[in-house]
Amino acid sequence: MNKLLVSLVLSLGMAGTAYAQEILVGDAEAGAGKVAMCGACHGPDGNSPSAEFPKIAGLGEKYLYKQLNDIKNGDRVVVEMTGMLDDFDEQDLRDIAAHFDAQKTAGGVANDAGLVARGSEIYRGGDLETGLPACTGCHSPTGLGNDPAGFPRLSGQHAKYIAKQLTNFREGERSNDGESMVMRTIASRLSNKDIEAVSAYIQGLR
Ligand code: HEC
Ligand code: HEC
Repeated sequence: MNKLLVSLVLSLGMAGTAYAQEILVGDAEAGAGKVAMCGACHGPDGNSPSAEFPKIAGLGEKYLYKQLNDIKNGDRVVVEMTGMLDDFDEQDLRDIAAHFDAQKTAGGVANDAGLVARGSEIYRGGDLETGLPACTGCHSPTGLGNDPAGFPRLSGQHAKYIAKQLTNFREGERSNDGESMVMRTIASRLSNKDIEAVSAYIQGLR
């Protein structure tokens, strides 16, 4: 290799390293000081007691960060949170995501035994007839999700919220599942009845 090329490769290599070091990492402790206004709806520890608001404790840091970003820039519309994230920069959102991910999720109770049997069938086995994949593959058998992959925890979430998201994905009202459209495709294969069943099952899953 000639000298010029060697130095070019070296300097590019150095620039690459510097870039890698600049990737921001969430700081849960710093995040704790930035979430005062979230508790009113999501509960002080992210375990919203009201089914009107999702629990956000322990959903996965990567997933939480992505949602905060999507909500801030309008890729996911949450009317109740309009403008609320505008003053937060990328580091703030990463800190907030780390903070809520570190909170322990309060478990839920499935409140409709009649629906739960069908819900379990869907969650664990999908549906061959409609080509619906099992939810376990991505969200895990216990509903813990897969943080590095960005698959959110579902277990213990309010059934009402889960049902609303599945309906929104199906109708295209929520479309921030990327180019693969994974959740829009899956939800398009779920009837209202099956959405109700799998949501009831997820609320009690642990
Ligand atoms: C006025 C009530 C309200 C406040 C205050 C609020 N949120 Fe929300 N948030 C909501 C609602 C409602 C949704 C769900 C909307 C939907 O159905 O899609 C939501 C959704 C979310 C989600 C997505 C959850 C998921 O499972 O995908 C995250 C993350 C979130 N909020 C974080 C925050 C943070 C962080 C704060 C504080 C900076 C905050 N919210 C303040 C009402 C609120
Ligand atoms: C191939 C992987 C995959 C499979 C299989 C899958 N999901 Fe998902 N799911 C995802 C991803 C990725 C997201 C996050 C999308 C985003 O970034 O907003 C998600 C998000 C969700 C959400 C929104 C959670 C929240 O907090 O707002 C619900 C509800 C959900 N999935 C339910 C299900 C159900 C029920 C099944 C089975 C019928 C299922 N998923 C199967 C990948 C999958």
